[in-house]
Amino acid sequence: MKKLIIAVTGASGSVYFKRLVDCLLPKEIELHIIATEHGSQVFEYEMGISLKKQMEEWQRNNGHIIWEDNENLFSPVASGSYQCDAMAVIPCSMSTAAEIANGITKSLLTRAADVMLKENRKLLLVPRETPMSTIHLKNLYELSRLGVTVLPAMPGFYSHPETMMDLVDFVVGKTLDSLGVQNDCYKRWEGNSEA
Ligand SMILES: Cc1cc2nc3c(=O)[nH]c(=O)nc-3n(C[C@H](O)[C@H](O)[C@H](O)COP(=O)(O)O)c2cc1C
Repeated sequence: MKKLIIAVTGASGSVYFKRLVDCLLPKEIELHIIATEHGSQVFEYEMGISLKKQMEEWQRNNGHIIWEDNENLFSPVASGSYQCDAMAVIPCSMSTAAEIANGITKSLLTRAADVMLKENRKLLLVPRETPMSTIHLKNLYELSRLGVTVLPAMPGFYSHPETMMDLVDFVVGKTLDSLGVQNDCYKRWEGNSEA
């Protein structure tokens, strides 16, 4: 069974994380969920439900979802010998991006990301901040040079979104595409027949 790590940080945009997990849940995929302390706080603030309650709801619907403790460096995902296929950090704060870019691995999230890098496995970040400082851009540039997929939370408008969820689904669909997970989250560009 495919194994994915999905992590959420304290950047705005917890809805991207929720929607991504909702889309992955019905699939035959083992999901390891990691949240930073700020990730849990911002999730509750933006989604109006605690991450604990949300996890309980998800776990009731699927046996393949594991809530990892971000302090637990004894977790399987802290080791390269545990073969996870890919990891996504969605949304990714500038703070977490800085830690990963600089090899600081004091939490399970950053250790797991570091493992993905050292094992040459797929690591994808969905950064969210605006405007970005030179420090933010420098860290994201370094991560990109290291082979990390940097997929900013920047929805496209060519699919004529009508709702907020259309915008969310654009970013989540691109994230699923990049993780190699089939999805119909967003309307794909098929050329402009009117041009
Ligand atoms: C409501 C709220 C929204 C935030 N939005 C962002 C954001 O979009 N991007 C970002 O980098 N930090 C944002 N922050 C700040 C981060 O939460 C903060 O830098 C935190 O230390 C990140 O920690 P973490 O990476 O361990 O989750 C936000 C904070 C709050 C309270």
